[in-house]
Amino acid sequence: MFGTPDRLHRQRTVPTARRRLRGRRVAPAVRSRARAWAGRLVARRIQRKGIDLSALTFIPEKAKVPLQRVGTDPVPRLAQLRATDPVHRLKLPFDFRVHLVTGHDQVRAVLADRDSYSNDIRHLLPGTGPTTAEDVGGLGFTDAPVHTRLRKIVTPEFTMRRLARLEPMIERFVEQQLDELEAAGPGADLAKLVSFPVPFQTICALLGLDLDDRDAFARLGVQRFDATGGAAGAFGAVSEQREFLFDAVARQRKEPGPGLIGQIIRDEGDLISDVDLAGLADGVFTGGYETTAGMISLSTMVLLRDPAHAALVRGGSRKDVDRVVEELLRYLSVVQVAFPRFAKHDLEIDGHQLKAGDVVIASLSGANRDPASAGTDPDTFDPARVPSSGHLAFGHGIHRCIGAELARMELRVVLPALLRRFPDLALAVPAEELSFRQLSFVFGIDELPVTF
Ligand code: HEM
Repeated sequence: MFGTPDRLHRQRTVPTARRRLRGRRVAPAVRSRARAWAGRLVARRIQRKGIDLSALTFIPEKAKVPLQRVGTDPVPRLAQLRATDPVHRLKLPFDFRVHLVTGHDQVRAVLADRDSYSNDIRHLLPGTGPTTAEDVGGLGFTDAPVHTRLRKIVTPEFTMRRLARLEPMIERFVEQQLDELEAAGPGADLAKLVSFPVPFQTICALLGLDLDDRDAFARLGVQRFDATGGAAGAFGAVSEQREFLFDAVARQRKEPGPGLIGQIIRDEGDLISDVDLAGLADGVFTGGYETTAGMISLSTMVLLRDPAHAALVRGGSRKDVDRVVEELLRYLSVVQVAFPRFAKHDLEIDGHQLKAGDVVIASLSGANRDPASAGTDPDTFDPARVPSSGHLAFGHGIHRCIGAELARMELRVVLPALLRRFPDLALAVPAEELSFRQLSFVFGIDELPVTF
């Protein structure tokens, strides 16, 4: 297989300063001087060669804001920016124009406007090397008309009618994982035994993949959304996962399986290339489990903070549970930013001038905590809340999450089942000791020890 993480790691260009600093305690002043120096190096390289995201091994400090959290909340700086400058030009150490959009209406407007923004990221990636422009595909990085054609191919699999057929299977996965949690006893890790395996098995079944590569995939999923190593770590994991899916597609060309990959091969035959099909499967796979896994763990944490909320999910009606799930989606906004958008031409948004090629980062966690839409006390979890214009946890417009109904179904099944099976469920460690993802496009938690 193409590139183990180790090999990819060696191939990446780690600025010398960072390499030297690794593993040692260094004074903050030294660290910030080294960071500025590394920034200048990158800036010079970008001026010479143009930006190559697959080689960017750090995220500039100012661009981290939409990915940082305090506990389950976005950092206060995000709310400050939203209040004062909902479309904010980030001053980065290199000449690359990036705008951070945090207001609900502004984010919604960007995501709705496919005539002004492109999702195609390939001009920022090289044609050769460990990660090439060819590696990146799937719906999220594609524009119309290709996006329209590919999305039409997968949409039938995500209709309510087709999804309803998956529900009994999801219930079985949930029961099986709750049995494993019970068998592991108090102190067991809910993230490992429930939050991850339920969506993972669901997505493997949906696509028609076997579970053999489970451990490798688990690792790749986390790396892929991790921004601590800049974009390079994420793109390294893209290649590896893509390689695996290429193999799966090639195998199913000969013998189409029972899931989505096999179905598309049966319906489309040679009309769809292996690259497009692997890209589609990759997008569905990647979007489909790390996000829902994060939601299951974090939702459990939030519900356990207030016995009334846990009781509402344990004993409430389907409508009650649906309301709680919607508020959890808004409140947690696990997909912290939308896919990057690129201005197709010079334009104005909210009084700000954008030039053709400018990058727009739409902060979904910022938008979902905007009082203009969420109403009063947007930082409070309140299942009775009805945001005036809905939440944006699944995005908006033509790239809106294709798996939204599947994710809702999984949450609707797993959360009540968990709280009913373990009425005394509680965190095994204080919330402050939990290890939240530090800098990830998809917010989550790596371990959640519980007692019951
Ligand atoms: C709670 C769980 C989930 C959340 C919060 C979530 C969130 C999102 C968001 C915000 C986007 C749009 C980003 C943008 O407009 O730039 C998106 C797109 C997407 N999601 Fe999800 N997602 C979840 C679960 C799933 C599941 C279960 C699947 C698949 C089974 C999935 C597959 C996708 C795909 C393929 C796209 C790209 C759609 C396109 O570009 O047309 N997601 N998701």
